[in-house]
Amino acid sequence: MALNNIDPTTTNAWDKLNQHFKDSNKTKIKDLFAKDMDRADSFSIKWNDFLLDYSKNRITKETMGLLFILADELNLKDAIDKYFNGDQINQTEGRAVLHTALRAKESDEIMVDGENVVPEVYEVKKHIKEFSESIISGKSKGYTGKKFTDVVNIGIGGSDLGPAMVTEALKFYKNHLNVQFVSNVDGDHVHEILRTLNPETTLFVVVSKTFTTQETLSNATTIKKWFLEHGTQEDIAKHFAAVSTNTEKISEFGIADKNVFPMWDWVGGRFSLWSAVGLSIALAVGYDNFDAMLQGANTMDSHFKETDFSENLPVIMALISIWYNNFYLAETEAIIPYAQYLSRFSAYLQQGIMESNGKSVARNGKRVGYETGTIIWGEPGTNSQHAFFQLIHQGTKLIPTDFIGYKNSLHGNTDHHNKLMANFFAQTEALMNGKTQDEAAAELKGQGLSKKEIDNLAPYKVFEGNKPTNTLLIDKLTPKSLGALIALYEHKIFVQGIIWNIFSYDQWGVELGKQLAGTILKDIEGDNLSSHDSSTLRLLQFFKS
Ligand code: F6P
Repeated sequence: MALNNIDPTTTNAWDKLNQHFKDSNKTKIKDLFAKDMDRADSFSIKWNDFLLDYSKNRITKETMGLLFILADELNLKDAIDKYFNGDQINQTEGRAVLHTALRAKESDEIMVDGENVVPEVYEVKKHIKEFSESIISGKSKGYTGKKFTDVVNIGIGGSDLGPAMVTEALKFYKNHLNVQFVSNVDGDHVHEILRTLNPETTLFVVVSKTFTTQETLSNATTIKKWFLEHGTQEDIAKHFAAVSTNTEKISEFGIADKNVFPMWDWVGGRFSLWSAVGLSIALAVGYDNFDAMLQGANTMDSHFKETDFSENLPVIMALISIWYNNFYLAETEAIIPYAQYLSRFSAYLQQGIMESNGKSVARNGKRVGYETGTIIWGEPGTNSQHAFFQLIHQGTKLIPTDFIGYKNSLHGNTDHHNKLMANFFAQTEALMNGKTQDEAAAELKGQGLSKKEIDNLAPYKVFEGNKPTNTLLIDKLTPKSLGALIALYEHKIFVQGIIWNIFSYDQWGVELGKQLAGTILKDIEGDNLSSHDSSTLRLLQFFKS
């Protein structure tokens, strides 16, 4: 069944939220804390090994109550059921959205076009297990009889970002295989990686849902050519594997059937790391860790599906983000993991969030009259503190920020971990409290400055504060907690798409780029230029001259 089509701004809750915003937008978070001793308790959720503290936001119980009513008025519960049940909620592509089926329990039954897809998912999982274990153990060998030492994932977008992010995030759990990723069509990328490789001991995994993506096919072709300078056509069977829905194109490329991993059109590229697209993850950290990540995601799926909105992590994070995006008109959100292993997490979420909810046409086919997808950015703390935190603290823009940190250091390095986490806690406190002119002046006085010097300097030392943050404090970075964390953001994306009345699971904007590049490539490689605006023409002429 199709999703509802309701303009959120026509709901009663939206009107009330508008009024509530007018009444409350001067409120200071720190005053809310002063008034309510139990605030941290009221606005936090303990779930498994996660603690979400969302009390340092410009919200009250009334705000959350209205946001929950908004979700009800827009039939969020019904949409969640459709999402998990395999309804064709990716309507513009006529597809179900079932990355959740990839981490379902073996006993579950999830129907697509009248067929339970879970047995198929488990068949592919078995293949991933056998394949990865035989490479890791050295049972499978390269064309000269040597064990594999290197793996190269060839893919882009969802066929690169997810596996690359997770492989980095789970580096602590890594085995001896050196796993690298080639994505950019810029030849420098592939050439730099090839320089490090021995063809006799390298496995290449070509990942492309469509198997038509220019970047991936160019890189795969270049790599195959390089490989054939050393090995033979027959040796390709030992050194190349592929993941795709397009099995016909894979065999044209020459990859042996036993190394082909299917995927399904009900898995979107940016949500595909749970499928065989995650083969390089299983190769890097072993199948059991890969599967533990899937189990972690499954626990978050159950939480999202079954928990009341008032205790539901993805729902709460999505609604708070809507509060800032649509009422405060904050355009961006920062995601700051205080974990170096999560250095690719924000880049990964940029695709997930911005490709999904960067839409301006509502589910009625008309342009929306309100803001949709937020701009996502971020880098790990503490590095980010020395880069762009100045603007979050003292700039003119409102930037709601998620802080993600862990109770335990993986390497047991208490000294470093305590320092890292001291920064983590200090930042959210400082962002909320700020510093008044009086406090700044008192500080300068304490440093022995004259009255004149204090008057001159104090205004620059003022921090307005009242900057909203969510804090996610997790016990430990494990495959399981990582799976749950990724799934949390996936469901946040879903909730926001439902509220904004858009289709989150297509990406026509990116498809346009693919088409346009094809036309211009003909101009570059041919003798004549087709028709373009004068700027593009001049640039092309200069490029070709
Ligand atoms: O970037 C657009 C996109 O279509 C993504 O959604 C997808 O993850 C990526 O291209 C790669 O596509 P494919 O896996 O088909 O090569």
